[in-house]
Amino acid sequence: PKEKFVNELLAKMTLDEKIGQLNLPGSDDFVTGQAKNTNVAQKIRDGKVGGLFNIKSLQKIKDVQKIAVENSRLKIPLLFGMDVIHGYETTFPIPLAMSCSWDMNLIERSARIAAIEASADGICWTFSPMVDICRDPRWGRIAEGVGEDPYLGSLISKAMVKGYQGKDLTADNTIMACVKHFALYGAPEAGRDYNTVDMSRIRMYNDYFPPYKAAVDAGVGSVMASFNEIDGVPATGNRWLMTDVLRKQWKFNGFVVTDYTGINEMTDHGMGDLQECSKLALKAGIDMDMVGEGFLTTLKKSLAEGKITTADIDAAAKRILEAKYDLGLFQDPYKYLNETRQKTEIYTTAHRVEARNLAAQSMVLLKNDNQVLPLKKSGTIALIGPLANNAENMAGTWSVATVQKNSIPVLKGFEDAVGSSAKIVYAKGSNLDDDPVFEDNATMFSKSLNRDSRTKQEMLDEALTVAKQSDVIVLALGESAEMSGECSSRTNLEIPQAQKDLLKEMLQLGKPVVLLLFNGRPMVITEESAKVPAILDVWFGGSEAGHAIADVVFGAVNPSGKLSTTFPRSVGQIPIFYAHKNTGRPLHNTEGKFEKFRSNYLDERNEPLYPFGYGLSYTTFTYGKATLSAPKMNAKGKITVSVPVTNTGNYDGKEVVQLYIRDVVGSVTRPVRELKGFQKIELKKGETQTVTFEITENDLKFYNNALEFKAEPGKFEVYVGTNSDTQNKVEFELIR
Ligand code: IFM
Repeated sequence: PKEKFVNELLAKMTLDEKIGQLNLPGSDDFVTGQAKNTNVAQKIRDGKVGGLFNIKSLQKIKDVQKIAVENSRLKIPLLFGMDVIHGYETTFPIPLAMSCSWDMNLIERSARIAAIEASADGICWTFSPMVDICRDPRWGRIAEGVGEDPYLGSLISKAMVKGYQGKDLTADNTIMACVKHFALYGAPEAGRDYNTVDMSRIRMYNDYFPPYKAAVDAGVGSVMASFNEIDGVPATGNRWLMTDVLRKQWKFNGFVVTDYTGINEMTDHGMGDLQECSKLALKAGIDMDMVGEGFLTTLKKSLAEGKITTADIDAAAKRILEAKYDLGLFQDPYKYLNETRQKTEIYTTAHRVEARNLAAQSMVLLKNDNQVLPLKKSGTIALIGPLANNAENMAGTWSVATVQKNSIPVLKGFEDAVGSSAKIVYAKGSNLDDDPVFEDNATMFSKSLNRDSRTKQEMLDEALTVAKQSDVIVLALGESAEMSGECSSRTNLEIPQAQKDLLKEMLQLGKPVVLLLFNGRPMVITEESAKVPAILDVWFGGSEAGHAIADVVFGAVNPSGKLSTTFPRSVGQIPIFYAHKNTGRPLHNTEGKFEKFRSNYLDERNEPLYPFGYGLSYTTFTYGKATLSAPKMNAKGKITVSVPVTNTGNYDGKEVVQLYIRDVVGSVTRPVRELKGFQKIELKKGETQTVTFEITENDLKFYNNALEFKAEPGKFEVYVGTNSDTQNKVEFELIR
């Protein structure tokens, strides 16, 4: 019936109406480029709009949908999209944080709740999941992604698509997902946003493509093109990418949308004028043009000049209509516009409880000397720092639907947690971004900074007075929400200078100090890590950040987050990631000593500050020796690896047991190890559990030089442990 319905509708459409379906203007509420759309209402009446995005509120959406459904010739309903990246009004932690939970059920649930809330406010399409693998934390959009690893990233990608789209896309509380940014957007040269990407195909297929493919395999309804070029051709006009890989190899049958003015930007890439770029994009396999109106203004001319065919336009228009059909919009264009749902299903107490839980599960305990944490709810606790009482900065980047002032700041979280059993004293201590490197940009950030007009010394003096009264000092420091995200690349990944100065003064008081690190990316905290006894990475926790932080700080939740991206010791090590190649001249020593004519630095160790998969707990987990079920495995068979894990500390806790495999000899060089499995287990204190992983040939496959996905016989090393640095090793052989 879909095919028949869409074909019949298409047959009634004029050329202009077909082209109109390919046009996606943005709302004035949220502009992220230089272009803005005008006369949108008239264009809708004229059948020149296929959808709109980033309009918040059911009432506004209803008015716009009404124009399409009542005043346009064919009454075709519009799609309403939005960047629902980590929750809707109930905001979950930033995606990079969520990925550190390694908990697919919770991540899927966050997407489910986001879909329930967004659809209750008129939205039927989200520009998420963002699954750009990133191994360069200078890039600000690392905050929106899944981290550095294709295996973990693929699981998250699938969980999010399932969460948004549910089992039935025609239901009124599910929404269409859009996997982005296809492809390789997380690998710009020098970590500078929108910059060139140049990558071998073998690396694309093995390391960067898997999470996009996982979304396609999970049935994602749409794909967004990336801004960058691939093999010298911008993704938006890249036929190999959009048609050969996406549609032919991966069998994707949904629609592809550009990013914001992606077609127009091809002119600056050097691909020709708007007509030429629009033609290239359509021919490549793009169906919908976001904001730029290249399709709207040039396709008719290109058709008349024989540069494109009616079939090209029909194919794209058909995919947009099919998406609308899949969502059930033709049956009921107002299906997402239910005022009762809007009143009862958005920002509910139940949703906020789940956001609080996921925020706590996402935090990573980086250091905890002398068991400073968890804190007792007694005595006087000084809470100091520009992020301590700062609701506006809790949600993090790309939270379009959040009401920022409603987020719970740390101070409120602490007060609610301790009640009258302890005294909380507070001082701001410094401004967030007082650092010479930010001077030029200060105005851009100031909106979310709550800049204080007092002098640096006045703020410091107040903090010292407050800290001196206390038994323990908790510092809430780090980046502002807008220091990561789109167009927020940095070359200096340290905590801004005024905050570092504040930290130094606090350490000199000789009291126990806890650093709550707010960040949208791995930061360079080598100095802090050497000096501060306890560091908890709290990322940007969303609506319930303050409560979740208090849950972990006071021990209601034992932290179990594990890093999904490597923390470098210095910016000069970037790009840095655990699954690197060995090179022909690896180091012989593991102590980080310099070796001449080997692959290392004169002035820095090779190892990161904190490796991928790293994260402490308030308890300790002791691993026994890993054992294999057999020394050899044939291609049709399987092998199991087991490891006993014991909770040897004083708290019940969760541990992510990780499995890595190294293919020792290959037809192409292989990474020193790759994540191939993990299990998040819960152990009572004193309890032991034997964790078993099954390995099949599929886990050993990789794309070779001919881009064939195959396993090669030979020796494999298997590592099982608490992070990517584990040396708990066994070996087996794959035989034919
Ligand atoms: O979805 C986003 C994308 O990630 C960046 N450019 C704008 C789009 C729509 O807001």
